[in-house]
Amino acid sequence: MAESLAFSKTSDRKQIYEELAPQVASLVAGERDLVANLANVTAVLKEAFGFFWVGFYLKKEEQLVLNAFQGTLACTRIDFDKGVCGHAYTTREIVIVPNVEEFPGHIACSSASKSEIVLPIFDKTGEVFGVLDIDSDRFDDFSEIDAEGLRRIVEIIESFI
Ligand code: SME
Repeated sequence: MAESLAFSKTSDRKQIYEELAPQVASLVAGERDLVANLANVTAVLKEAFGFFWVGFYLKKEEQLVLNAFQGTLACTRIDFDKGVCGHAYTTREIVIVPNVEEFPGHIACSSASKSEIVLPIFDKTGEVFGVLDIDSDRFDDFSEIDAEGLRRIVEIIESFI
């Protein structure tokens, strides 16, 4: 298992995502424990990009329940029809929110959060297993480059769930 991350000190996120993907794949390859792997994925994304909050909500007992994360305290349970996370869960699509204050029903875990991206994670049967939620303390911080780069990371997660 890799013990440290290697990535270019560049503002080119596409390049960083390309460098991270194989490292994430090898990081999780030797470990079957879900929380251990998800925890390391949050650490990788936090270290590489300095995002304000990175974490997972997984489907449990008909809600999305907080799982591994890096960042400040967060709400523990989200209904499927609530928030950006619930929207990604029900639409099964990646949701990019440039300004969280303008998203109807956004759940504000921290006033420092300004923009957000949420990706659904699918299990082998095609059901939504949970979501990857990332918050930035800057407005309009996420683009299609993040959606594509993070989708690759989520695909690695999907390969072991
Ligand atoms: N903002 C999310 C809630 C989770 S926190 O961002 C950690 C939402 O609206 O679903």
